[in-house]
Formats: sequence, C-alpha cells, structure tokens
Amino acid sequence: MSLKLMDKVCIVTGATSGMGKAIAKTFHAQGAKLVLSGRNTERGQSLAKELTNSVFLAGDVSEVEYNEQLVELSIENFGKLDIVSINAGILGLGDVVSLSPSDWHSTLNTNLSAIFYLSKYSIPHLKRSHGTLLINASIAAFKSFPNHPAYCASKAASVALMKQMAVEYAPEVRVNAICPGPVDTPLLWESAKAFDEPEKAIENAEKATLLNRLGTPEDIAKLALFMVSADASWITSTAMTIDGGILNV
Ligand SMILES: NC(=O)c1ccc[n+]([C@@H]2O[C@H](COP(=O)([O-])OP(=O)(O)OC[C@H]3O[C@@H](n4cnc5c(N)ncnc54)[C@H](O)[C@@H]3O)[C@@H](O)[C@H]2O)c1
Repeated sequence: MSLKLMDKVCIVTGATSGMGKAIAKTFHAQGAKLVLSGRNTERGQSLAKELTNSVFLAGDVSEVEYNEQLVELSIENFGKLDIVSINAGILGLGDVVSLSPSDWHSTLNTNLSAIFYLSKYSIPHLKRSHGTLLINASIAAFKSFPNHPAYCASKAASVALMKQMAVEYAPEVRVNAICPGPVDTPLLWESAKAFDEPEKAIENAEKATLLNRLGTPEDIAKLALFMVSADASWITSTAMTIDGGILNV
C-alpha cells in the first residue's frame, strides 16, 4: 500500500498539543517529513524524537521572523516545502467591553496575522512544489459564541484570507481551510470557561451535535490528511466544516 504523503515536506504549527499533534502524527504515519512548531520546548522536542525525519523549532507564530525561520528550516533540512498546516490558535476570552486591547491584538496576531506571515514565506516554495496550504479555522467563522469576539473575528477573517490566497496562487498552490466544531482538546475546555457552568457547556455542545459526541483530534487529522493529499487535488478555496452537524442545529 502506498503512503499518501511519501517524502512530502510539511510544516505543522501548534504541533505540541491537540489537533496539531494529531495532524503531525497522521502526516508522519503517511511518510511525511516534518517541521514542527509550538511554544512548549519539552513537548516539541519529545515529539520530534518520536517522529523520525522531523525537526522542532520553538517560538511564537505571532512574530514575523519565527515564521521565516520555519520555512528556512524546511529548506535547510529537507530541500523543499510541499505542505503547510497552520493550526496554532488562542481564544482571547472576554466580551468586547471587558476584553483588553492587548488580548484583542494577541488573538488577532496569533490566529490571523500568523497565517499571513507563514504564507508569505511559504508560498514561493509551494509554487515550485505545486504544494498546498491548509488553515485550521473554526465554525466560529460562521457562528457567534459569547465572550469570543476576537476569536470569531479572527476565524472569519482567516477564511476570507484563505479564499483570497486560493484565487491569487492557483493553479500551482491549493489553499483550503477546515472548520472544526467542538473537539476535545485543552483549548475547548478553556473555551468553556466563557460560560457560567463550563462542564455543562461542554455537555451541551456534545448534545448539540447531530452525532451526539465531541470531535477527537484524530477526526480532524483524518480530514487534514485528505485535504493535503493528492485525493483532494481538485479542491481549493474551500472552508470544509467538520463539526458532527452542530452548525445545522
Ligand atoms: N478545540 C476545538 O474545539 C476547536 C474548534 C475549532 C477550531 N479549533 C482550532 O484548532 C486549532 C488547534 O486548537 P486545539 O484545539 O488543538 O488547541 P490546543 O490548545 O490543544 O493547541 C493549540 C496549539 O497552538 C499553539 N500556539 C498557540 N499560540 C501560539 C503562538 N503564539 N505561537 C506558537 N504556537 C502557539 C499551542 O502551543 C498549541 O500547540 C486552533 O487554531 C483552534 O482555534 C479548535
């Protein structure tokens, strides 16, 4: 059986936790070589040790230079870049009245500007390799949640940026987004703190899906694999929801 990402070189951000980690493992199992990005050095180094043909660089995706370094690392170590999976994200909880301007900016910088930075340095290489960019957005791009103004705004804008880049860089580069519903990761439990009864909020989210369960990081990784593989070679400019049907309720 041939591996779907044999010798493909991928950058994965947010690889030290949740969905990014599942994506890194899934891509690796399909033959990919990886540049892993995250903030936690210990977790990142341990993942890089576990996954052969991978390197880790700790840093903050909201800093322009760090994104340039990730691309340089890919070229220096593996000679090319085929796939960029942009996952890192934060919540910036608080309503518009209570949210500090600094939390607003750090959320927008992490969830939106970082996509611009990494795309800016990746796209020249992706044009050469006929590669692909996959952004982890959210159903928050389409549906509002209380106390998540910066998050909802950044995710909606990330879908708009994805579509713009898909137009600009076709046909060489495919650009898409995946938009998960509630997925069982540390970020979801943090997000539940925006509600009066966090545990109840998670239970309600679970019940609100048509399929009666939260998503798992592996559910998302399987979709990410499909989206970056040759199986999706006629898909670009798409924001694909994966949410157990919750948007339809
Ligand atoms: N969990 C959910 O229910 C859900 C739903 C929809 C979308 N998402 C999105 O999925 C993505 C992954 O989230 P997750 O649920 O796996 O969360 P998580 O908290 O488990 O992982 C987030 C990752 O992003 C990294 N990160 C955050 N800020 C960073 C920064 N400034 N620089 C570098 N790395 C940074 C963290 O280190 C971590 O590795 C996020 O973009 C999130 O918005 C999550």
